[in-house]
Amino acid sequence: MAKGRTCVYFCQNCGYESGKWLGQCPGCREWNTFVEEFVDKRSVGKGKQSGNEHAQTVPLSAIEMTQDKRVSTNIAELDRVLGGGIVQGSLVLVGGDPGIGKSTLLLQVCQNLSKQKVKVLYISGEESLQQIKIRAERIGTFEDSLSLLCETNLDTIQKVIDREKPQIVVIDSIQTMYNENVASAPGSVSQVRESTGTLMQIAKGSGISIFIVGHVTKEGVVAGPRVLEHMVDTVLYFEGDRHAAYRILRGVKNRFGSTNEIGVFEMRQNGLVEVENPSEFMLSGKPEGASGSVVACSMEGTRPILLEVQALVCHTNFGIPRRTAAGTDFNRVNLLMAVLEKRLGLQLGNCDAYINIAGGIRMNEPAIDLGIVLSIISSYKEKPIDEKTICFGEVGLSGEVRAVSMAEQRVLEAKKLGFDTCILPEVCRENIKGISGIKLVGVRTVKDAMDCIMR
Ligand code: TYD
Ligand code: MG
Repeated sequence: MAKGRTCVYFCQNCGYESGKWLGQCPGCREWNTFVEEFVDKRSVGKGKQSGNEHAQTVPLSAIEMTQDKRVSTNIAELDRVLGGGIVQGSLVLVGGDPGIGKSTLLLQVCQNLSKQKVKVLYISGEESLQQIKIRAERIGTFEDSLSLLCETNLDTIQKVIDREKPQIVVIDSIQTMYNENVASAPGSVSQVRESTGTLMQIAKGSGISIFIVGHVTKEGVVAGPRVLEHMVDTVLYFEGDRHAAYRILRGVKNRFGSTNEIGVFEMRQNGLVEVENPSEFMLSGKPEGASGSVVACSMEGTRPILLEVQALVCHTNFGIPRRTAAGTDFNRVNLLMAVLEKRLGLQLGNCDAYINIAGGIRMNEPAIDLGIVLSIISSYKEKPIDEKTICFGEVGLSGEVRAVSMAEQRVLEAKKLGFDTCILPEVCRENIKGISGIKLVGVRTVKDAMDCIMR
């Protein structure tokens, strides 16, 4: 081993560092995740003291406000998730399952930017130039301000960036990049960390915005541990069922904008297409006149999204009732069923219950509680809910229906999509003024809500 190099073991799952090999990680409790990696410790804590004793501090008021320089990607859904465009000098991590469309999305970003004559460099460590060309053919035409590079060595990449001076760089993917100074294999914790560190210096030093593609592990976090998420400015996750056409881009960290925005896309033959009205999309295919189905409204950031909540409640054939929840929190569903059992006297104890948010989207906002409750009641009582009715509201343990935020936006969205009745918390109804064309039914308890649909 070269002098000054230390061998340490890193958990490949969470980045836990240990001096010796361990079978189970004390950090994340995963088994067999430790891999030997070499770290250069020469510069750490030895020799003469580094640091600048003349470093100056600055009062906050002395710092001049500069407007964030943002470049629009011309993809409205992406711009919104980014907080209004790409911020100059920012580092954006795009994570997601393989085949979900990360490379496609970023190539489309490159395409749009190249049309605005922004100089873009797309660096791929995964695909050959030929393969990128084939993908590009599907997407459309490109201007010449986009250049491509197939490279995995970060030193080379750094030199190319210094020479070409692009405004935006795409790195596909961070797991394929390697730094010669780090002895471990590409994709390992220390490589990923080092590479991201280098990219961060490039981004902050020269004001280049960098998009980094990151693969996710089977647990759904970006491979190479959380450190990656801490280092970058923005983390976006691209999710959705690979077999379904739509994809959701979700911001989970954003230093320059709100994190609860989502962008909805549909994968077509010629690339990703924005879905401007996700509610319509989510509700397509809703059955008519079926019991156990109701439309609820959830907010994703500033946008209301209408979705169909489905419940199937049937008699248990085996001793223990089965309950499943797809697209929402399982424990929440159990809790709501207990509330119904206690407050409305429904005999759910010997019933199986399957709850599903149709469309495959995941929703955990409490405002869909009322939707879950009504769909369970509807299925249990075999009573279809009028298909022009929508509901929202949080349900508490005493069976009370509690107020939720942004009620007015939700009602307006429902009205826009042609719903004529809205069941909502009474408190919210009192506060909504001046909306006509939709009947507002305020409810105080789940009993009131049940009476509304049983009429
Ligand atoms: P890709 O962007 O390669 O995924 P990732 O980089 O996240 O691994 O996505 C590839 C998938 O998208 C692949 O299954 C083919 C499909 N696809 C389309 O349906 N239409 C298209 O126009 C393109 C380019 C890809
Ligand atoms: Mg890819």
